[in-house]
Amino acid sequence: MKKILVTGGMGFIGSNFIRYILSLNEDFKIINVDKLTYAGNPENLKEIDRKFPNEYRFYKNDICDFATIDKIINKEEVDYIVNFAAESHVDRSIDNPSICCETNFFGTQSLLNAARKHKIEKFVQISTDEVYGSLDFNDSPFTESTHLSPNSPYSASKASADLLVNSYYKTFNLPVNITRCSNNYGPYQFPEKLIPLMIYNATNDKELPIYGKGINIRDWIYVDDHCKAILKVLLDGKIGQIYNIGGDSEISNIDLVKKILKILDKPESLITFVTDRPGHDLRYAIDHNKITKELGWKPEIKFEKALELTVQWYLYNEEWLKNVTTKEYLTYYEKQYKNR
Ligand code: NAD
Ligand code: DAU
Repeated sequence: MKKILVTGGMGFIGSNFIRYILSLNEDFKIINVDKLTYAGNPENLKEIDRKFPNEYRFYKNDICDFATIDKIINKEEVDYIVNFAAESHVDRSIDNPSICCETNFFGTQSLLNAARKHKIEKFVQISTDEVYGSLDFNDSPFTESTHLSPNSPYSASKASADLLVNSYYKTFNLPVNITRCSNNYGPYQFPEKLIPLMIYNATNDKELPIYGKGINIRDWIYVDDHCKAILKVLLDGKIGQIYNIGGDSEISNIDLVKKILKILDKPESLITFVTDRPGHDLRYAIDHNKITKELGWKPEIKFEKALELTVQWYLYNEEWLKNVTTKEYLTYYEKQYKNR
């Protein structure tokens, strides 16, 4: 049995990854380490302990706390580490840059030290396409050799962590991979991110705040496709390599929000243009040829279908949405939009 330490497994992508791995019914055990910040939600993996008593363990812990991570790895005899844990929201990193430096950089360092000490078989760093910076409308998509040029405190902290991961490979021969994926969507995403926020607001007939003119473009990938790519990289990725992961689905924010409104049968008059995000990256686009050629992965689910599925998920999981849109969430949200 291979034991995978997943960090940040109570968040959006981490929880989807854990569900995916356990659904395979293969010889894996998952050890989930999560600090349970505002974004970490045990509801995301509600029935998992009961369904998989021998294949799943949860530890509430900070990845920056090396001593405890060290003990967990020792006790659980971990083979692989997949590091999802992060402060993942760009707007929050603009409000408070130091939060993401702590977890995204120092937390990664703590895990790398533990991986080195315990001679882990593979360390996979879940990074982001945002480390490459921004593209113009006619630029070619990011490849793995595009220069790092992060623009937000969030993306700078992720790029710094990538450099550190690479340094542990070069200096200490630590077996690593880095994945850089575009914007994910799907079930269990915290409604501070564009798609679930717009679904939540539209269903409650609240205004839909679009930054600037809504012309910024993102490449969207359904979270299941991302999870499948990560497993391929973990098992078959060439040591020391970086893999871009993308959804082949570029769309501007305004067009995306209009699609959501159409699915929900809500009026476009809910859209409100607000002050732009400082340093707002214009466009992300991913060239994923490397992972496609080397590991045989490509995104499977079509954007229109997956967007529809996603909207339906939030409608059917009204209770989940109600539970995460707490008083703390609403206070943050009000503060965020007060000055826009
Ligand atoms: P998320 O915010 O939904 O979840 C982050 C999780 O990490 C939460 O469960 C939180 O409690 C946990 N966490 C935060 N700080 C921690 C700490 N110090 N110790 C232990 N746990 C901690 O994030 P997400 O959207 O699921 O993103 C997961 C990873 O994927 C991140 O590294 C992010 O940079 C990367 N990524 C995200 C996207 C996206 O579109 N969401 C795209 C590409 C890459
Ligand atoms: O590209 C990968 C990245 O995607 C990940 O690394 C990040 O963790 C993840 O949060 C996401 O970052 P973005 O900044 O692209 O995602 P967000 O959902 O915050 O915003 C998507 C786009 O929508 C962006 O152009 C900003 C815009 N936006 C966002 C919000 C929350 C709005 O116009 N209004 C909003 O209220």
